[in-house]
Amino acid sequence: MSRQPLVDLAAQYREVRDELLPEIERLMASGAFVGGEAVARFESSFAALCGAPHAVGVANGTDALHLALRALGVGPGDEVVTVPNTFVATVEAIVHAGARPVLVDVRPDTLVMDVAALDGARTSRTRAVIPVHLYGRLVEVEPIERWCATRAIALLEDAAQAHGACRAGRRAGAFGDAAAFSFYPAKNLGAAGEAGAVVTRRADVAARVARLRDHGQGERYHHDLVGYNSRLDALQAAVLSVKLRRLEAWNARRRALAAIYHERLGKVKALECLPAPAEAESHVYHLFVVRCAGREALRAALTARGIDTGLHYPVPIHRQRAWADLGYAEGAFPVAETAARSVLSLPIYPQMTDDAVHRVCDAIEACA
Ligand SMILES: Cc1ncc(COP(=O)(O)O)c(C=O)c1O
Repeated sequence: MSRQPLVDLAAQYREVRDELLPEIERLMASGAFVGGEAVARFESSFAALCGAPHAVGVANGTDALHLALRALGVGPGDEVVTVPNTFVATVEAIVHAGARPVLVDVRPDTLVMDVAALDGARTSRTRAVIPVHLYGRLVEVEPIERWCATRAIALLEDAAQAHGACRAGRRAGAFGDAAAFSFYPAKNLGAAGEAGAVVTRRADVAARVARLRDHGQGERYHHDLVGYNSRLDALQAAVLSVKLRRLEAWNARRRALAAIYHERLGKVKALECLPAPAEAESHVYHLFVVRCAGREALRAALTARGIDTGLHYPVPIHRQRAWADLGYAEGAFPVAETAARSVLSLPIYPQMTDDAVHRVCDAIEACA
């Protein structure tokens, strides 16, 4: 039997090919490779999807976090609170903005930020909080929103894994002062290369990010800020516009596949699925993650049966060599540390068939 990949971007391409190629042809023929109509069109349709007035396309998700922090006024001497079980870009962006990352442990049930942890992390220098919608599941942002608002602390969502996730009619990207999205190819909405966006309800933040991404210029060759070259490629914007039309259907398909995993794997004693949220649409299952004490053995057995799996993430930020100077010892964040040893990501992508999910479940039942 053929290998079961973790994601299959070639299968995704086959699905969109007939719509995508004419758009690429049109873009190439237009000669507008940087900025222009394709970027503006994608920005306005992505903002509409998020239910926010502004989306500003940038070069990647890491830049989206970094430029959003800078636009929110975060800089040297400031502290920004986030979690240790995230992709490293979340903390890199804080350091790139000149600020210091302060970490808080996550909830044991969902592995995302808990508002209860914030009081203990707050100092007079706390300037922003970055909850991460890890694996595609919306953090319970509303209490964090209130906590930030009453203390004049900025809220930046790391929504790199949660395009379209929705609770009580509000979407990822519409909760905070700003949100950062990545369109890395394997994301729920992925480019054919690198891309990202800052989504915000604040016109001042949108205008500042738009300047920062383009060398700090408003009027051409008049530079008000020290900026960056972090513009979104028009080609990527054209690709993203085509795929955006399918995002809702693709997310629904991910939820249907996740429901099969929940149903089947809920009965397997050796592992534990992360719980499904009460409001189904608040999870877009960028990843389907289980916890298993014997993770390495299970992973090896699945690999031997031709099933690829992933680890998101095997080493929490504070235990990475590059981040030793944050000064956190082993044991500082027990929930994140235990998760790093036990999480296992199973294959999930919209083009995956029900049968393929059942085959993964059969294999897990046979070897867990
Ligand atoms: C949680 C999280 N934050 C930030 C990023 C950074 O995005 P990018 O790879 O587009 O720079 C990613 C994705 O890679 C991510 O998963």
